[in-house]
Amino acid sequence: MQHEPNSQNFVETYQHLIGIVTPRPIAWVTTISPTGIVNLAPFSFFNTFGANPPVVVFSPTLKRDGSKKDTLRNIETTGEFVVHSSVARLAEKVNLSSKELPPDESEIALAGLHTIPSLKVKPPRVAEAPTAMECKVLQIIPTGTGPIAGNLVIGEVVMIHIHDDVLDANGRVDPRKLQTVARLNGDVWCRTTDLFELPRP
Ligand SMILES: Cc1cc2nc3c(=O)[nH]c(=O)nc-3n(C[C@H](O)[C@H](O)[C@H](O)COP(=O)(O)O)c2cc1C
Repeated sequence: MQHEPNSQNFVETYQHLIGIVTPRPIAWVTTISPTGIVNLAPFSFFNTFGANPPVVVFSPTLKRDGSKKDTLRNIETTGEFVVHSSVARLAEKVNLSSKELPPDESEIALAGLHTIPSLKVKPPRVAEAPTAMECKVLQIIPTGTGPIAGNLVIGEVVMIHIHDDVLDANGRVDPRKLQTVARLNGDVWCRTTDLFELPRP
């Protein structure tokens, strides 16, 4: 089949994109509202794009009614966020935190999680998550104005926290211990348990 994206068929285009670009790592993001409500939500339009300075990008899209998600609003106001790894033992809580709550309610309580203060940014981090990257916004680039339009949130990582129990003997993150999960299409996710090694040529 072929599919030519246009402004009428964007939902179908979205479904093709998230089916093709897989697996997508899931940023589990805390932000804080101007009144101090901690927001938590997962975003699989996410990756890292350089280490000097260390940069991550994720995209809270506009909602189907064209309005902004709480995460984007908070980041526009505060310029700060924290990205956590989404791991197998927390997958259900990651999913639960995608529930659309009113801006004055926190997904932290909904998911039965706890927070601890960050060192360099105001949004706290999720205590239960094995990694956390404290980030300050470098740039926000809207890529459109209609439903499901992207907003590239480009952040500089200013502090990294890693639980010792996911490290290997050399102090690097061991994927067999971290056990991240990723998003495929629709409600389908994957684990990172079927690993193989390919030495660099
Ligand atoms: C695994 C997973 C990945 C998601 N990825 C994205 C994403 O990349 N961009 C996005 O806008 N929404 C994504 N969502 C939906 C948001 O998490 C959801 O809209 C959430 O309510 C946004 O929260 P907020 O309004 O508090 O910011 C994802 C949901 C799940 C379960």
